[in-house]
Amino acid sequence: MNPTIESIRALEILDSRGHPTIRVMVKLDNGITASASVPSGASTGENEAFELRDGDASRYGGKGVLKAIENVTRTIAPRLVGMNPSGQSEIDHRLIELDGTPNKRKLGANAILGVSMAVARAAAQAADVPLYEYLGGADATRLPMPMMNILNGGKHADNSVDFQEFMVVPVGATSFAEAMRYGAETFHALKKILAAKGYATAVGDEGGFAPNLKSNEEACEVIVSAIESAGHKVGKDVAIALDPAASSFFKNGDYHLSKSGQGRKTSAQMNALYEQWLDRYPIVSIEDGLAETDWDGFRQHTAALGGRIQIVGDDIYVTNTEFIRRGIRERTTNAVLIKLNQIGTVTETIAAIDLCREAGWNYVVSHRSGETEDTFMADFAVAMGGGQIKTGSACRSERIAKYNRLLEIEAELGSRAVFTSPIARSCHGC
Ligand code: PGA
Ligand code: ZN
Repeated sequence: MNPTIESIRALEILDSRGHPTIRVMVKLDNGITASASVPSGASTGENEAFELRDGDASRYGGKGVLKAIENVTRTIAPRLVGMNPSGQSEIDHRLIELDGTPNKRKLGANAILGVSMAVARAAAQAADVPLYEYLGGADATRLPMPMMNILNGGKHADNSVDFQEFMVVPVGATSFAEAMRYGAETFHALKKILAAKGYATAVGDEGGFAPNLKSNEEACEVIVSAIESAGHKVGKDVAIALDPAASSFFKNGDYHLSKSGQGRKTSAQMNALYEQWLDRYPIVSIEDGLAETDWDGFRQHTAALGGRIQIVGDDIYVTNTEFIRRGIRERTTNAVLIKLNQIGTVTETIAAIDLCREAGWNYVVSHRSGETEDTFMADFAVAMGGGQIKTGSACRSERIAKYNRLLEIEAELGSRAVFTSPIARSCHGC
């Protein structure tokens, strides 16, 4: 007999920034219990699903999630109790229907996603298989290439760097464990280089350094030095990925590189700048190189550079099939960033990935800047088989928890584990 959902509870917990978030606990009638915790972004896309916060200034500066919790216990739980937890799509559709708004404004995407993920976990346990196998089937054996955000600028750092994230991608590694080693060695080498130059080595929200560098270019230069000093081949073993998060410096139709003093640039000038960078640095992927409203600029960006590197859309798509469909039609990018909480259910996230697969596009499963110790997304990345994950630097336990879970999965799969990079090595300097 299939088990059924006996109860659903929710708890206000804290995320990695010390802000409240929601944890949902699901209990089945066979005694199985499972929980899931929801992350939270800072540089959020305009069209993301709605994160419900209390707005009560007397608690957590208005960021409490007691209303979302009440929505789980009073509205959602009574409608799901008695259902079979393995009917993920049926359960997610019931959640969408219960909410009834286009962006989950009524119940809150945080309430809905917590339930959706906890149900998946409970069902995996009931089926007695690991979560990645439950969601991805017996063929879910591909470990993702990590994109590790080791240096920050933009809104995430008080320095002269306009771009938000500079990531290392261990493209030459032959296993996930080796990729982690390359990434961590580069991170430690970078720390030494920054310290020797007299820069601060404290880390930001995602575990990357935020030194007071003098320019965007210096960020790439110190990373190249760190790759070399860690003993790896620049571009061949370890390459660079960028997330400029360009919406954050886009105003009135132009890009304002004001932190670095490079002034105002049009879309075309931004694209020319990226092209120059490709010749100078071992860049293999650029995410949100243009703003979320600049569909034309993105299209030109992809037309110019998409044959050489991966062009990822994050804020422009917000893991929403409506926007991804437009992107595929218009060749806006050639890859999509996937964040469960941008859309709010497991089923809708898988639908976004299905579109990428049909189009032959890459997709990168991603964390948020506010995270918890929950490792759902690590299993999810293996289940979806896209071969890429972005989950922060080589420090901070809420980031490392995901990497450690992937190390565990790789070990568990043993000789069945597959590690192939969906992005080409950089031929910079070859
Ligand atoms: P966020 O940042 O979680 O604050 O949105 C991550 C990203 O832009 O990819
Ligand atoms: Zn992004």
